[in-house]
Amino acid sequence: MTFDKKIIILQASRVKVKQADRFQTEDVYEWLVGYHQIKDLLGQYINKNDTILILGCGNSLLGEKLRRDGFNLIFSMDYCENVVTNMSNHCDTCKHINWLTMDATNMPIRDETFDIVLEKATIDTFLVNEKDLWTLSAPTIKIIDQTLSEISRILKPNGKFISLSFNQPHFRGLLYSKDKYDWSIRSIDTIGDDFHHYLYVVQKGLPISCSTSYYVYEPPKIIETMATCDESKENDIFDINL
Ligand SMILES: C[S@@+](CC[C@H](N)C(=O)[O-])C[C@H]1O[C@@H](n2cnc3c(N)ncnc32)[C@H](O)[C@@H]1O
Repeated sequence: MTFDKKIIILQASRVKVKQADRFQTEDVYEWLVGYHQIKDLLGQYINKNDTILILGCGNSLLGEKLRRDGFNLIFSMDYCENVVTNMSNHCDTCKHINWLTMDATNMPIRDETFDIVLEKATIDTFLVNEKDLWTLSAPTIKIIDQTLSEISRILKPNGKFISLSFNQPHFRGLLYSKDKYDWSIRSIDTIGDDFHHYLYVVQKGLPISCSTSYYVYEPPKIIETMATCDESKENDIFDINL
């Protein structure tokens, strides 16, 4: 099903467009995980008639495969115009996806438009130059905050932001668990056996007190000196009554 873009788009002039060289030559590329690894999980959180926005789609087949699985109302966006053009012509199924070129930090989309905003490795790209994930630089904090504010704004009440990342919950929880976005982390699923990826489901309107807020850890304290061992206490273990 296609959608009249005028229903959701406000001012096309707000769009800042980029081109990326790699999309001139690269057909498809899948970051983090393929659709088959997350299909069942996504099916638990997304209904077939939900309006879905894929944020920073790149040349992934996520949208195409969701559409083939019967998710009918898919919008797919990226700020690289050439990848949006390429992917919109990738196959017949892609013609039934609504393609948009826009910047995630400033989306010309009406408030409360989508049931689902889905991103895979897009927010990760904002973090690539960070050396210490406990202490992010001001430009990174700004771009992430602008993007999360926009996602919250365009989500319908009770809508879900689904985010797939290699970033562990103690880092990502700090970014997502903020009152200002009017949402809460509803679940975190771990994907993979050795190297883990995480599927965060964040629900708008869910009070922060209902969230998995224990994921908001404090950064570990740096211990300045080596602990010294008090040998006189070593035998105390034998005094413990079991
Ligand atoms: C690491 S790739 C992930 C692509 C795809 N989601 C996947 O899973 O394979 C990140 C994508 O986000 C896009 N992107 C980065 N910053 C963006 C922004 N501010 N607005 C829209 N798209 C952005 C890039 O052009 C790129 O296609």
